[in-house]
Amino acid sequence: MDKSEALKVLREHNQEHVMKGFDDLSSDLQAQLLRQIEEIDWETIALVGQDSEESEGDIEPLGAVDVSQIEARKEEFTKAGIDAIKEGKIGAVLLAGGMGTRLGLDKPKGELNVGINRDLCIFNCLINNLLDVTNEAGAYVPLYVMTSEKNNDETIRFFEEKNYFGYPKEYVKFFIQEMAAAVDFDGKLLLEGPGRLATSPNGNGGWFTSLAKAGLLDDIKSRGVEWLNIFAVDNVLQRIADPSFIGATLLSGADSGSKVVHKVDAYEKMGALCKKGGKPYIVEYYELSKEMAEATDESGDYLYAFGVILNYIFKVSRLEEIMNNRMPVHVVEKKIPYIDDKGELIKPSEPNGYKFETLVVDMVAMMNDSVPYEVIREKEFAPIKNLHGVDSLDSARELLKKNNVEL
Ligand code: UTP
Repeated sequence: MDKSEALKVLREHNQEHVMKGFDDLSSDLQAQLLRQIEEIDWETIALVGQDSEESEGDIEPLGAVDVSQIEARKEEFTKAGIDAIKEGKIGAVLLAGGMGTRLGLDKPKGELNVGINRDLCIFNCLINNLLDVTNEAGAYVPLYVMTSEKNNDETIRFFEEKNYFGYPKEYVKFFIQEMAAAVDFDGKLLLEGPGRLATSPNGNGGWFTSLAKAGLLDDIKSRGVEWLNIFAVDNVLQRIADPSFIGATLLSGADSGSKVVHKVDAYEKMGALCKKGGKPYIVEYYELSKEMAEATDESGDYLYAFGVILNYIFKVSRLEEIMNNRMPVHVVEKKIPYIDDKGELIKPSEPNGYKFETLVVDMVAMMNDSVPYEVIREKEFAPIKNLHGVDSLDSARELLKKNNVEL
C-alpha cells in the first residue's frame, strides 16, 4: 500500500488524522505505518457503538460432573489420561499473550514473582505443576506457548535464562498471536509512537489460528497430538494435562472438556458453563438475569453454579474444522497509551478507549459438547489479576501456602 492508497482508505473511514506528519517520518517508519494501515480490519473497528451480536437459542443449565462423581471413577479416568499422555496424544497450550494491564507490570505476567523468601515466578509454578504430571506419566507433554509481539522476545529470553525451569527445551515451542488496532472512545485510531498505530493483542480466542499460522500444526501432527489442553498464564494452581480431566473427557466421547469450579455465590464475576440452543455455552455473569442467577434445583443448589477457569481440552480434529469460522469480536474498554497532538506519550490511568478481542469462551460454543469437570477451587484456582484484593497476588500466595507450595 502506498501513501495515496492509505489516504484513500483512511478517508473512507474518517481516520485521516493518523497521516498527520507522515512526510516527516523516516522511510522505515512510513513503511511500518502503511503496513499497519493495510492490516486494519475495518469491520472490527466499525463495531464501536454497535450492540453486540447475540447467538440464537435458549439458555439452559448444564450441571457438572461433580467432585463426588469424579472421585467414584478417579482410577478409571486417571488411567485413561495417563495412557493418552504416554501415547503422545496430549499437548498443552499456555496462553501468555495478554498485556496484564491490571497488574501494571512492564514485563510478561509469567515473570511475576510469587515467592516471598525465594524467587518463584508464575512460569516456574506452572512448569512445576506440569512436571508433576509428566513425572507420573513417565512421558513429556509438548508445550506450546502463545506470546504477543509485545512480549515474545522477553518471554523466550526468560525461559532460556531459567533453563526452561527444568522442562526439556525440545518440548517447548513459542508462537506469536496477532495484534489488532485500538481506538479511542469515539472509534478513532490512536498512535502509540511516531508512525506506529496503537495495537493490542487480539484476545485469547485466536490462539488456534495463530498456532496454525506459525506452522505448529505440522509439529502437532508429527508428534501425534490429538488433544490440546489450553490454560491461562495467571492461575498459579492450574493443573496442566491433568490425567483425570483428560480421561473423563476422552471416555465421554465429547470433543471438549471444561474445568469448572463451584461459584462462591450467585453473583460471582465468572462465566458459567451451560447450554444454549443445545450446544455448550458460557454465560457471562452480567448476562444472567437475577431470576436465572438465583434459580436453584430441588436440593437448593444454583442451576448456574459452575464457573469456568480457563482450562479446557479440545480435540484437534474439531479445532481444524472450526478454525475458519468467524468468531464474535468483543469490544473491551482499556487503558491505551498514545501520543497526543504535541507528540507526547500519555499513559492513561483510566480506560481511554477500546481494544478488540476474540475469546476462548466463544470457541467452547463452537464445540459439539463439553464435559463440565468440577475441581476444588482451593486446590486449583488461584488467578492473579491484580496485586491486591480479589484474585490477586496476595490471595494467590495464601492459596499456594495452603497447598504446601514453599514461597
Ligand atoms: P486476561 O483476560 O486476564 O487478560 O487474560 P490480560 O491481558 O492477561 O490482563 P488484563 O485484562 O490486561 O489485566 C486471560 C488469559 O488469556 C491470555 C492471558 O495471557 C491470560 O493467560 N490472553 C489474553 C492472551 O493470551 N492473549 C490476549 O490477547 C489476551
